[in-house]
Amino acid sequence: MIDPAQIVYLNGRFVPLGEASVPVLDRGFIYGDGVYEVVPVYARQSFRLPQHLARLAHSLAGVRMDNPHTDAQWEAIIGDLVARQPYADQAVYFQVTRGVARRDHSFPKGVAPTVFMMANPLPLPTREQVERGVAVVTAADNRWHRCDLKTISLVGNVLLRQLATDAGAAETMLFREGFLTEASASNVLVVSGGTVVVPPKDQHILPGITYDATIEFARAVGVPVVTRPVPQAEALAADELWLSSSTKEVLAITSVDGKPFAGGAPGPVFRKVWESFQRHKPRAR
Ligand code: PDD
Repeated sequence: MIDPAQIVYLNGRFVPLGEASVPVLDRGFIYGDGVYEVVPVYARQSFRLPQHLARLAHSLAGVRMDNPHTDAQWEAIIGDLVARQPYADQAVYFQVTRGVARRDHSFPKGVAPTVFMMANPLPLPTREQVERGVAVVTAADNRWHRCDLKTISLVGNVLLRQLATDAGAAETMLFREGFLTEASASNVLVVSGGTVVVPPKDQHILPGITYDATIEFARAVGVPVVTRPVPQAEALAADELWLSSSTKEVLAITSVDGKPFAGGAPGPVFRKVWESFQRHKPRAR
């Protein structure tokens, strides 16, 4: 699974993964003190990179770190890394940590951030997952109150995702104080009476780039979309539920907590919007 020859980027250099290493006192390792992004790349073209870089800037500002690169520099590094991989569809992962310092919770002074980037094959959903939908379990959202920041401190998300894995499901759908938030590594969209209803982008969900794209591609085919808080009972009684993320695109949820949901098959609105998504995303020329 891990290819030590894969070329990755670390602090200004392109090196084989097997030779990329970070000191143990890196604040990413000690505190999870850093932020990250995942950008899908189709046929070597990144999808919505400006939006991902804007979200990175929001995450960095939220954890009070300077952006180590301009958007043009980020774009150049990503382009170079993508060109060095043998596969055309990629998931570019990059993270910035507060750097290497003596262990002390307070910010260190005069320390350079650590910048790491890798481009893996894009793990798109299988045909079966698209056609049959996927299972989720539900759980209380017990994460912190800054879920709008894409931080590498993901133990909350990891524990919630494992509930799904333990149950043989794909995702864990989360509710906070009676309202839908998102899932452990995806956003959740709801369909009620032919309208897509999405929770607002507040501090309890990640402002998903795919969430925005799905909304846009739904509107492009005449499907109405409204943004408002979604009560748990409404979500669980919806006509359709969807997941969205950079690596899942948009997927129908067809089982919730071990029971078939919405007839156990992807609904008609999903099919229409999934097709719109496929038409709009970048493709090989
Ligand atoms: N996860 N919510 C959470 C908690 C996420 O981690 C993600 C993405 C999303 C969807 O965001 P986007 O559409 O921008 O990918 C929502 C990425 C893929 C990950 O951590 O691997």
